[in-house]
Amino acid sequence: MIKLGVNIDHVATIRQQRYTDYPDPLLAAIKAEEAGADLITLHLREDRRHIQDNDVFAMRKILKTRMNLECSLSVDIINIACKAKPDDVCLVPENRSELTTEGGLDVIKHMSSIRNVVDLLSSNEINVSIFIDPDIVQIEAAAKIGIGIIEIHTGKYSDAAPSQINNELFRVKEAVGFAKSQGLKVNAGHGLSYDNVTSIASIDGIEELNIGHSIISRSIFDGIHNAVVEMKRIILEARNK
Ligand code: PXP
Repeated sequence: MIKLGVNIDHVATIRQQRYTDYPDPLLAAIKAEEAGADLITLHLREDRRHIQDNDVFAMRKILKTRMNLECSLSVDIINIACKAKPDDVCLVPENRSELTTEGGLDVIKHMSSIRNVVDLLSSNEINVSIFIDPDIVQIEAAAKIGIGIIEIHTGKYSDAAPSQINNELFRVKEAVGFAKSQGLKVNAGHGLSYDNVTSIASIDGIEELNIGHSIISRSIFDGIHNAVVEMKRIILEARNK
């Protein structure tokens, strides 16, 4: 059954805009789990623009499902991950000026630091995945590192002009097929919304979708419970068709 990871970073984004103690991303995570989230995803960025160190440690204590912490390759961030011991770490690229994670991690360019980080996290019994573009060469490199899980970046699919959507969908499908042939567990995410998620959720072989911005946005009008329930309904229905 396809799983839904709810990314609660944007609850913290609103809080950090005023440095208040509300809205609380922990409460959002609890409510998302109650509504059927299979895991909670959060990104401790080097610039701490949303999630703070305290959130990570507090979340670790209260989550009932799984905690998936997105981390850059920065030594400081990886050390925090080793202390917090999330179930999973997803390695992502970071760039100060980006609005959000704009592309997958370049596995070939960062091969040796990825190897070191994977070894360190694995020795702390943390599952590691790499956020990666739907690119066969990158996936092949990830498989060579001996990593067991990848998350395919669906941003290009999500942002594609109508004339390009099918091409981008095809790239994701090919990438999933190739990754499975290499024995990898495949997750996907970025930019997925209530309108565009069905085609991605329908791809056999994708085990988890990580979705944040669209769910937190819908929560403003519908509440987080209903927003999570509705996203889960759509992805389960897509898979069962
Ligand atoms: N997966 C990864 C690795 C991400 O970095 C993000 C964004 O933080 C997401 C999924 C969720 O993306 P969105 O907020 O666009 O749904």
